[in-house]
Amino acid sequence: MPAKILDGTAISRQILDELRAEVGEIVKKTGKAPGLVTILVGNNPASASYVASKVKTAESLGFHEVQINLPEETTEAELHALIEKYNEDDDVHGILVQLPLPKGINEKAIVNAIDPDKDVDGFHPLNLGKLLASGGKDGFVPCTPAGIKEILRRTGVNLDGAEVVVVGRSNIVGKPIAGLLAQKDDTANATVTITHTGTKDLAFHCRRADVLVVAAGVPGLVKPEWLKPGACVIDVGVNRIGMNEKTGKAILSGDVDFARAREIVGMITPVPGGVGPMTIAMLMKNTVRSAKRHLGLE
Ligand code: GUN
Repeated sequence: MPAKILDGTAISRQILDELRAEVGEIVKKTGKAPGLVTILVGNNPASASYVASKVKTAESLGFHEVQINLPEETTEAELHALIEKYNEDDDVHGILVQLPLPKGINEKAIVNAIDPDKDVDGFHPLNLGKLLASGGKDGFVPCTPAGIKEILRRTGVNLDGAEVVVVGRSNIVGKPIAGLLAQKDDTANATVTITHTGTKDLAFHCRRADVLVVAAGVPGLVKPEWLKPGACVIDVGVNRIGMNEKTGKAILSGDVDFARAREIVGMITPVPGGVGPMTIAMLMKNTVRSAKRHLGLE
């Protein structure tokens, strides 16, 4: 039987509907809407498209949205000054600087400059530390790992003692999802293995996985014959493999061969329409949470 498709678009719609109601309550109680600033530097088409989706969603929820587009030649000092301004602005509850930044700007220094209490991306080391220490309840969890966990939770995937294998060790996805799913609590408690470009036998690890999270950014990296029958596959890869000449839109593919994998595994996220929309929904959720904290409602 083909795998159940984990429909991130449908789940994210539910979350956005829940948030819309919450935003209404916040406005009613305080007269203020959650405030999100998005900062895009340069002309990376993928980044521009991600930011446009984030802005559109924020607007659809009734956020106070400030969108800043800066030229490629923006200096690190200019970016610092802007972040400082929004760190001090009481109407702003979330600051997002889209990564990657152009060469010449120290990404780490920029991420570290964002007030951790407005770091709705969850990339600041303080928030990553809180995630490792306690699952991030008192900080912000990065949006893609938070979205993956929400898909698993809302689908009823049992993580308790499950073999989870993560392919990729980025600070944005691989490391935080591993930390989250290994937490000792009743939403996680998995046995987690992190694999990466230095892993000697990737096939061996993938074959053991009850839940396989692939975030490598390499189309077709995980071969269908490496998948455990019945496993749950979360494909985080968003690879632009061509261009649809009629629509002018990029053709996207994940890190797993979806068509063949779905004949083997029990559940799988599609690309597009799996993890991507969840990432945006969790950014909105983090911003609403931040607004409630800043406005004294939490
Ligand atoms: N680049 C790729 N993913 C993300 C994300 O979730 N947030 C930001 N700020 N940049 C990214």
